[in-house]
Amino acid sequence: TTEGHGVHHAHHASGNEKNISVTELKGPSGHPDRRFTLVAQKKKVRLISGKVVDAWTFNGQIPGPELRMREGELVEVTLINKDIQEGVTIHWHGLNVPNREDGVAGVTQDAVQPNERYVYRFRVNQVGTYWYHSHQQSDLQVEKGLFGYLVVEPKKPLAEEKEITVLGHQWKTGQGEVFAFNDADTVKRQIVKQGTKVRLRLANTSNLPMQFVLIGAPFQVVAIDGNDVHQPNTIANQELKLAAGGRYDIRFTMPNHPVFLTGSREYNPSSAGLLLSPDGKGEVPKVPKDLKPFDPALYGKPKPGTNTPHSFDREYTMVFDNKMGFYDGRFNALWLINGKVFPETPMLMVKEGEWVKTTFINRSGMDHPMHLHGHHMLVLSKNGKPVTGSPWWVDTLNVAPGKSYEVAFRANNPGIWMDHCHNLDHARVGMTLHLSYE
Ligand code: C2O
Ligand code: CU
Repeated sequence: TTEGHGVHHAHHASGNEKNISVTELKGPSGHPDRRFTLVAQKKKVRLISGKVVDAWTFNGQIPGPELRMREGELVEVTLINKDIQEGVTIHWHGLNVPNREDGVAGVTQDAVQPNERYVYRFRVNQVGTYWYHSHQQSDLQVEKGLFGYLVVEPKKPLAEEKEITVLGHQWKTGQGEVFAFNDADTVKRQIVKQGTKVRLRLANTSNLPMQFVLIGAPFQVVAIDGNDVHQPNTIANQELKLAAGGRYDIRFTMPNHPVFLTGSREYNPSSAGLLLSPDGKGEVPKVPKDLKPFDPALYGKPKPGTNTPHSFDREYTMVFDNKMGFYDGRFNALWLINGKVFPETPMLMVKEGEWVKTTFINRSGMDHPMHLHGHHMLVLSKNGKPVTGSPWWVDTLNVAPGKSYEVAFRANNPGIWMDHCHNLDHARVGMTLHLSYE
């Protein structure tokens, strides 16, 4: 399946040979502007609360190192697998990299085995908040901690003076589930001077949608999945539901009293939070009960002159459903797209240059955050009603039970791409497709 896409293969280290093999360099040539090295390794990690999780990490930390780069740069990331027996890859979630750099084990490369290394090279032509994670046995490896933030700064500096990145994540440990903001599963305090313009970069690296709540200051949602919102209005006391895998950037000005960010996993409330205060003091405010849901379909203003398609070269429909059945020899809940379980699901075929419309219909009782690799999707309508706010571009769209969406994408990045539910447990037992170019 990887033919013609210039996949570079790592050499397998044999038997007791301990030296790390070197992968042939492909991808855009030239001297990289940024270099990073990520070492996948097992580690027991102590969270702020003192709880210890058996984590799989990049560079011994969770989340992994925050990779920061600037728009237009050539980036080179060396992945070294120290001791993850099942092999590891890195997928750049939301970055539309060339197909061979996409980091999907079994599709764009082989998983990198212990004592092997692999080099990714790509130029970043996008701006905003992204993340990276292993794409080998993703349901297990992401949950165990093989992920981190990736931020692409614009060429001209942002208006905000302070940026804080917050990942909501859930671990299933032997002793139950731990929900944490970065590594804090309790309230973490931080001093921010009054009057400071703050950008919070929020991401949900768990399998279920998460509600982020910001109390104490009016705010704007300035970007969704890395894409700027056009003319964002100022809101308060709204609950931001974020798809598993999705990101919101929010902006506010620090008042003279504390601002509290918290979240809850649907079906699983949490006590994790971030308390920003001008003097390091102050009580954790109570979260009001009557919060309104934030709706990106109605938020911001339409942007005249943007290239919104009126006709489509292809249309696909995906109906989501579930049933019980055997998978890998076990009786399991199976998650279906059009009645089928991957790999029975047919490939979506497109031709370069086409506008492709996809309709998602969720007939199951759970959320399905649909993630398309290598492309961004423009949301056209939600439950039959056209989007009336800012152009709403996503790479991960939460399709709640009973809901439907129409989205469109431009087929402008040839290769074989994954299109799957980012509840990675669902992706494993059925909700996966491949998109391919004719
Ligand atoms: Cu964030 Cu296919 O994954
Ligand atoms: Cu799902």
